[in-house]
Amino acid sequence: MDTCDIEKDILILGIESSCDETAVSVVKNGREVLSNEIASQADFHEQFGGVVPELASRMHIEAIYPCIIESLDKAGVTVSDIDAIAVTYGPGLVGALLVGLSAAKGLCEVTGIPLVGVNHMHGHIAANYITHKDLEPPFICLCVSGGHSQIVLVKDYQNYELLGTTRDDAAGEAIDKIARVIGLGYPGGPKMDKAAQGGDVNRYTFSRTHMGDTLDFSFSGIKTSALNQINKMQMQGEEINICDFAASYQQHIANELVRNTVLAAKESGIRKICIAGGVSANSFLRNELKRKGKGFDLYFPEMKYCTDNAAMIASAGYYNYINGVRHGLDLNACPSLEL
Ligand code: KG4
Ligand code: ZN
Repeated sequence: MDTCDIEKDILILGIESSCDETAVSVVKNGREVLSNEIASQADFHEQFGGVVPELASRMHIEAIYPCIIESLDKAGVTVSDIDAIAVTYGPGLVGALLVGLSAAKGLCEVTGIPLVGVNHMHGHIAANYITHKDLEPPFICLCVSGGHSQIVLVKDYQNYELLGTTRDDAAGEAIDKIARVIGLGYPGGPKMDKAAQGGDVNRYTFSRTHMGDTLDFSFSGIKTSALNQINKMQMQGEEINICDFAASYQQHIANELVRNTVLAAKESGIRKICIAGGVSANSFLRNELKRKGKGFDLYFPEMKYCTDNAAMIASAGYYNYINGVRHGLDLNACPSLEL
């Protein structure tokens, strides 16, 4: 056989530093993770009750180089085996993004390897490609993270349409805020999920939102209604049942997210529904989608690919790369990059 007929594997080095995780990964052909290094700062930021951007940037600087070395080592490859470097350039914290971006650009400059910028939200969606090797667009994806709550129609690997979004807070933000107020600390999402297991989802009720004929969300009213109930109970000396409160609150948010997602799938005639982003790890959301999404093909990313990681960036970067996307070394961080 002519050697030209043998399809060459494509190796992408992914770099992610948009928030408080420094992550580097090597992914083969967009779907096979060879290494997935993550240096998380969550324990450090816990003392402040949230991410301190300036400190996050400094910690990324300390972690990025060892993460790159470790990731290449664990994948059993060297830089010369890498076909492209995929890096998150937005959305996210500007100082944090710049660390990963500068590291990627530096590597590209000295090695001549192509630079491929990746939208962090495209990365979250691509986490599904890693977990489900046969998944192909089109599909509906509910993207729920600390900063975003979006219903996306993924028409193709490069073609995304925003069908609905939050008008105010993201679901993750609404969960983190209430988790802090009821004393669960940071990061609130996983802690609230754990605290709510076995809780009564009907014990506390929250205001419902109606965003007219749109598929949009609003979580600030729900958050305020939770805060008001907590204040009232505290003033009346009534003890809050944390387990039941956390269960009711998350179930309420899950209902809102799933209602619009299933509606989006029905309206667009798409049978496949995926979820993505940190909040997609939530057990209430997953169970609600299993209940209400009967008749649809449901795809959940593996837990470790829900929250920020670089394998998802390498996967999205692979599809950018094979579709001819290349960025120059003048690529800048875009903190508010849109879908
Ligand atoms: O995608 P991600 O890691 O970072 C951003 O891009 O924002 O998402 C972080 C968000 C946080 O709000 C965190 O509390 C939430 O995801 N989260 C969860 C769970 N795990 C992480 N929320 C609810 N339940 C979880 N199990
Ligand atoms: Zn994220």
